[in-house]
Amino acid sequence: MPTALVTGASSGLGRALTRALAEDDWDLVVDARNAEALRQATQDLGPRVRAVPGDITDPAHRQALFEAAPDLDLLVNNAGGLGPSPLPALGEIPLGALEDLYRVNVIAPLGLIQLFLKTLAAHSGTIVNITSDAASGVYPGWGGYGSSKAALEQIGAVLGAECTGGVRVYSFDPGDLRTPMHQMAFPGEDISDRPLPESVVPAFRRLIQERPPNGRYPAADLSEGIHQ
Ligand SMILES: NC(=O)c1ccc[n+]([C@@H]2O[C@H](COP(=O)([O-])OP(=O)(O)OC[C@H]3O[C@@H](n4cnc5c(N)ncnc54)[C@H](OP(=O)(O)O)[C@@H]3O)[C@@H](O)[C@H]2O)c1
Repeated sequence: MPTALVTGASSGLGRALTRALAEDDWDLVVDARNAEALRQATQDLGPRVRAVPGDITDPAHRQALFEAAPDLDLLVNNAGGLGPSPLPALGEIPLGALEDLYRVNVIAPLGLIQLFLKTLAAHSGTIVNITSDAASGVYPGWGGYGSSKAALEQIGAVLGAECTGGVRVYSFDPGDLRTPMHQMAFPGEDISDRPLPESVVPAFRRLIQERPPNGRYPAADLSEGIHQ
């Protein structure tokens, strides 16, 4: 069976993608910092889902993930941060908070890519970096988070050009989702009109099964079908 690593699997999108991949008979290694929340999110998925709690910004944890899944076929860089809430304007964002955000949204995903690239190349594997429309949309308050996702997208695009083997590299934009992170972006607001993370699972499945050319794929476009 193929093996996938999904970071940030205890909540939101990562939880939904983990459940879908488990249904599709993948072996899985998953993480999140809160070990108990991760255990609760995965306890009914059976022994083929292995929880390795930790912080992706910690190189030792990334190494533990590598050792748990040395024969990886699919890397889903899903775990990420939003930064301070309410979202501060760029003129006021604390630089330390921005550094933390870049560490989790940019450096850590690239660190995982570097560890797994050889094995992914050997398996003609797939890298999916979860991005956001804030990577290119100009929304006041979203400059810290959006610029981190822009960096992640550019890493994916250049990596795709550098990977001459069979590795595919995608930026997957799920669109707005009803998750704890999204609630943090809109504190005190009713976000019940946003779709649940499960709504983008068919688009994600299509991406990894049909394996279109490297690139950026919004879930909304994938639900229309892939035109190569
Ligand atoms: N929700 C949206 O509307 C939306 C839209 C576009 C893109 N996205 C992207 O989708 C991805 C998932 O977001 P979400 O909305 O599902 O968020 P979420 O519900 O808050 O879940 C985030 C997950 O990541 C884990 N995590 C956070 N920091 C981590 C770290 N340093 N190391 C390991 N795990 C960590 C969290 O668990 P712990 O806190 O226990 O670590 C949790 O499992 C993110 O990359 C986000 O930017 C979301």
